Amino acid sequence: MPDRYEEAYTRSIDDPDGFWGEVAEDITWIKKWDKVLDDSNTPFYRWFSGGVVNTCYNAVDRHVEAGRGDQAAVIYDSPITGGTIRTYTYRELQDLVARFAGVLAGAGVAKGDRVIVYMPMIPEAVIAMLACARIGAVHSVVFGGFASNELAVRINDAQPKVIVSASCGIEPGRVIPYKPLLDGAIDMAEAKPEKTVIVQRPEAPCELTAGRDLDWAEAMASAQPHDCVPVEATDPLYILYTSGTTGIPKGVVRDNGGHMVALKWTMKNIYNVEPGDVYWAASDVGWVVGHSYIVYGPLLHGCTTIVYEGKPVGTPDAGAFWRVISQHKVKVLFTAPTAFRAIKRDDPDGKLIGDYDLSGFQALYLAGERTDPDTLEWAQTKLDRPVIDHWWQTETGWAIAANCMGLHPYPVKPGSPTKAAPGWDLRVLNDENEEVPRGDIGAICVKLPLPPGTLPTLWNNDERYVESYLDEFPGYYMTADAGFMDDDGYVYIMARTDDIINVAGHRLSTGGMEEVLARHPDVAECAVIGVADQLKGQLPVGFICLKAGVTKSNDEIISDVVRMVRDQIGAVAAFKQAVVVERLPKTRSGKILRGTMQKIADNQDYKTPATIDDPAILPEIEDALETIGYAKARAQAAAS
Ligand code: COA
Ligand code: AMP
Repeated sequence: MPDRYEEAYTRSIDDPDGFWGEVAEDITWIKKWDKVLDDSNTPFYRWFSGGVVNTCYNAVDRHVEAGRGDQAAVIYDSPITGGTIRTYTYRELQDLVARFAGVLAGAGVAKGDRVIVYMPMIPEAVIAMLACARIGAVHSVVFGGFASNELAVRINDAQPKVIVSASCGIEPGRVIPYKPLLDGAIDMAEAKPEKTVIVQRPEAPCELTAGRDLDWAEAMASAQPHDCVPVEATDPLYILYTSGTTGIPKGVVRDNGGHMVALKWTMKNIYNVEPGDVYWAASDVGWVVGHSYIVYGPLLHGCTTIVYEGKPVGTPDAGAFWRVISQHKVKVLFTAPTAFRAIKRDDPDGKLIGDYDLSGFQALYLAGERTDPDTLEWAQTKLDRPVIDHWWQTETGWAIAANCMGLHPYPVKPGSPTKAAPGWDLRVLNDENEEVPRGDIGAICVKLPLPPGTLPTLWNNDERYVESYLDEFPGYYMTADAGFMDDDGYVYIMARTDDIINVAGHRLSTGGMEEVLARHPDVAECAVIGVADQLKGQLPVGFICLKAGVTKSNDEIISDVVRMVRDQIGAVAAFKQAVVVERLPKTRSGKILRGTMQKIADNQDYKTPATIDDPAILPEIEDALETIGYAKARAQAAAS
């Protein structure tokens, strides 16, 4: 049998115009493109330039016109609110989205304007995103776990005309009023939105500011439906901010045409689902997984998607995912390995799986962090289904490497997300921009151009785009992941090459946390590293050196900085541990040896770097880490 993956891969690299041009026929175009790949302004490649489309039309209206109007488009399943379940057919979704597009237009939003969406996992978040797409406005969803300060930074960069939010979010055991966070962010930001639209939730309704805040339900009741507006394929659909190496996030831009073409293609070819199937990404609309696989991918393909407001455990138990899969006949589940580690911790024998009918469940996909072989094995054994690790980034919008189940399933190798997906010319490079032999570790890069659906640039910042991704390895996109490729072409992702850490599948910048710590008046110097954690993959740990003459106790200062990170970045940073040290280990040129500190914390063998200024500091770091349960204490635990 021909290997359809090999065929697709080879064609996508040798003849990208032919390959993606054919794939693009699956989308309804108002006007077809002039060029499939437009390389007239390198390194800014564009896909389908000259094409005119509307993403909302392709995700919603098109399916109603094709006879799917009565099929469920979105199922809202919210165990956190005590078991609310609501289904929206494609026809109902079309009506709601068209009306909310009318609300936005009435609030002055036009093509090209930005709208920030700061919402919990409720269907209105999806409706707001699609409504923006409908009128050609650019949405920027901000994850609900971020604090006011992070929201303010994004408001300043995106300069939204309108912000759509809700009165509260709900986390286990607590209701989080969003309105004070939103008001705080607007106060802090220099760029003020003209209007906000607020979904009032019964768990904690909020006061509205007269003249600025609109009530979602009232605005919808009187709204006029708005039609889909034609946009250029290369016009931006959304901006999604993601952690960079500093506290200033990067505004990843996604276009309309290439994004639709790529995502729709992945639904069959990577995930092996058909229109009409139920596809569930248990993530959040605030992350790229939520954009691509709660909203756009499944809807573009005519699937039913699930908006799940709950956790893998505790809502009410570790059987929550199996309940959703059986109740809604989910064919494919996509989540982060951390969710499975949480389930495994609470139900190690997977007993709860037996309580549900999973007969329609086809495969599990994991991403957001490396799937550790233990978790992979557990999930494979307990579910008796393919468990597919796939590797991608906010920037890429879809998988760089995957086991393309709809093309040609390959044997799974634990620790590897399998092979480069079609469209991705992956190379492992050394510092001289040369490919390293198979099996050797290097910087994983993608030979330009990137395929459709990836970032064409950063919002209002072409320079940072080039600097961050293209400068270091000329002719390539630098993923900032290091790893290797084996003789069969399987990719292994080993570590980030920058200071990004991955906490419970959430991407965070240790540099951003250091900026917060450094603002404490008693802190002279600091470092934050990510240490290995059994549940969340990594957890941040802070090291602080105090100024001379400080009178506060170490404990007080540590609780100050923990609170500061929670207030200024958000609870999602999970920054709960810090130690006070006399000094930080540095190279003679003054660079903090974060990598060595991380190895000490993780109990790995480490060599004292030749460039270290004073090797006597390393035992001090070991001692400090021991006081919070890392390093030596772990070694003793392992020995006993
Ligand atoms: N709004 C407000 N706060 C939020 C939030 C949101 N949308 N999401 C998380 N938080 C808070 C949590 O309540 C928690 O607060 P706490 O410190 O007071 O307990 C904190 O942020 C850290 O949250 P999280 O990292 O999610 O940890 P957790 O201990 O609550 O749950 C898991 C652990 C593994 C169950 C959870 O991380 C999970 O479900 N992960 C799935 C991963 C995922 O969806 N990744 C997205 C990419 S695919
Ligand atoms: P994000 O932009 O939040 O999706 O985070 C992207 C980063 O998460 C990548 O650069 C990797 O470091 C890590 N990552 C995501 N998926 C995987 C995976 N399947 N295997 C290993 N690392 C992953």
